[in-house]
Amino acid sequence: MRKNIVAGNWKMNMTYQDGLALVSEITNMVADETLGANVEVVIAPPAPFLHSIGKLLAEGGKIHLGAQNCHQKESGAFTGEVSAKQLQSVGVEYVILGHSERRQYFHEDDELLSQKLKAVLAAGLKPIFCIGESLETREADETFDFLATQLKNGLFHLSNEEFAQVVIAYEPIWAIGTGKTATSQQAQEVHAFIREQIAGAYDAEAALNTTILYGGSANAQNARELFGQPDVDGGLIGGASLKSRDFTEIIKSF
Ligand code: 13P
Repeated sequence: MRKNIVAGNWKMNMTYQDGLALVSEITNMVADETLGANVEVVIAPPAPFLHSIGKLLAEGGKIHLGAQNCHQKESGAFTGEVSAKQLQSVGVEYVILGHSERRQYFHEDDELLSQKLKAVLAAGLKPIFCIGESLETREADETFDFLATQLKNGLFHLSNEEFAQVVIAYEPIWAIGTGKTATSQQAQEVHAFIREQIAGAYDAEAALNTTILYGGSANAQNARELFGQPDVDGGLIGGASLKSRDFTEIIKSF
């Protein structure tokens, strides 16, 4: 049975002090809540805050720690980089990979992402692997071909055992930070397509067991409708994860 997940991707936002305050508000708000059946919450703060925020989350016991990126090598002379093993050593469980911002601004391609995926899996961490089309691709009616290629090149080189650790996030680029959410029908259509592709590359069981998140202007108002779709198993939340009340409302939207 696949998990439902709400993951907050803070991106390059928040000072350490603001981040601590936000996390304690969120942990207080969810402390008394019975989270929906099978719901897991993840917070992915900027790298320098991982250790202390991880400790705060561990005390509360309900929220898991995620990182926004990692380097593909295990260690060595890579100034400024952080390895999956280092992330694991401070309590990280999930690593976001292939976010469109990393693909666009840091030129991460399928080859590099496949190395990062291997590194994350080798460290015993779970990747949240992002895919998503641009507005241009959608308007050219090429969304499904584009996503099929991203999945094939980016993910489907993994073994069955490796793939079982992967969470997929569908993040249409045109919906990220724009306030323009995919409709629940658009999200459902793509999520069902992703599941079909998984069934083709692996098998029906792998397709059923994979958590597929939606990301892109998801918020407290639209989360219930989105999460109500049969193939939408939660969200990867940007802007709305920076406000405790909004994020908590989203967590309660299953
Ligand atoms: P927004 O929720 O701010 O649109 O960002 C989505 C996202 O990119 C999460 O990774």
